[in-house]
Amino acid sequence: AIHPVVLCGGSGTRLWPRSRKTMPKPFLPLVGERTLFQETLDRCADAALFAAPVIVTGAAHVAHVQAQSGDHPGTTVIVEPEAKNTAAAVALAAARLPADAVMLVCPSDHHIADTAAFQAAAQAAAKLAQDDWLVSFGIAATAPETGFGYIRRGDALEGGFQVERFVEKPDLATAEAFLADGNYSWNGGIFAYRAGFFMEELSRFRPDIADAVRASVVEGTQDGAAFHPAAAPFGAIDGESVDYAVMEPTERAAVVPVSMGWSDIGNWQALRDARAGDQADNRIRGTVELVDCRNVLAETDGPRISIIGLDDIAVIVDGDEVLVTTMAGAQKVGKLGGATNQ
Ligand code: GDD
Ligand code: MG
Repeated sequence: AIHPVVLCGGSGTRLWPRSRKTMPKPFLPLVGERTLFQETLDRCADAALFAAPVIVTGAAHVAHVQAQSGDHPGTTVIVEPEAKNTAAAVALAAARLPADAVMLVCPSDHHIADTAAFQAAAQAAAKLAQDDWLVSFGIAATAPETGFGYIRRGDALEGGFQVERFVEKPDLATAEAFLADGNYSWNGGIFAYRAGFFMEELSRFRPDIADAVRASVVEGTQDGAAFHPAAAPFGAIDGESVDYAVMEPTERAAVVPVSMGWSDIGNWQALRDARAGDQADNRIRGTVELVDCRNVLAETDGPRISIIGLDDIAVIVDGDEVLVTTMAGAQKVGKLGGATNQ
């Protein structure tokens, strides 16, 4: 079975005011009725393919994780003493699993429309991971996004390709060149690893992180379904993402291309695009009246929203906060005073 390892780091300031420090993006029902975290667990719930999930998160989010994983029995939690980015978070799970276990690292804040395509890709990725490939999911690149990793595919493997080059978060000019090249895909942020091989590669490139994680696991304590790694060795880690720490330098990177309606719901525009629209392509939640509007995202948890004659905007009412933005402006929401001082 494949072992799902779900990363819950929180944050998501570009979805303010709905996403807040105390109730961040993964734990909100953004696209459908289920939260992004629940969608992630649901995708990996097929017992014929998957073992029970391991959640890696911080103390601040454990209550949300427990409240929202009730219908997934067997879920266990690793509670990070502090956030040290994804290389350390993945390593905590890898160091606790048997060396031959294949893990599927899943971000908790993405939406994937086509579960069957996801599961087929997971199976192909798991097969490659068994042969000591570090496998990423390749998403067709449609824009020169600078917040993603880029993967250039090389020789074919069974079910995927070798990675010729993995470049995390290039600058805009480089991203544009990758898009024009045509042989690059985005890194979907989902990875399949054999646990023991991931630790070997991490030990090669970042022995400091690997050693500190191993020590904090050996000295950690179990409390019911929650494991608490020891704070001292973990706290000393100089954090790095798995993309920079392992995927860029390794010679054993592979990619499984997949078309599964993937979105990282990076801002309100992406959220609008992930939701089904009505006849005028509007997306509304709560008490909303729209007249002569198109492509509007409007949602409120209280006061009525009424809009006439506007296109391509988002209006979000959450408690005592109101956000109004053009879709083009949605990228900048994280920089607003309200989003930074929530
Ligand atoms: N437990 C834990 N601890 N989780 C974390 C931590 C941490 O310290 N830091 C981040 N995470 C979680 C986030 O909550 C998210 O679910 C996932 O790990 C990825 O982290 P992000 O911070 O969202 O990474 P990113 O979006 O900048 O980049 C990654 O994802 C892109 C696709 O969305 C990279 O893998 C890119 O290459 C990729 O294109
Ligand atoms: Mg992300």
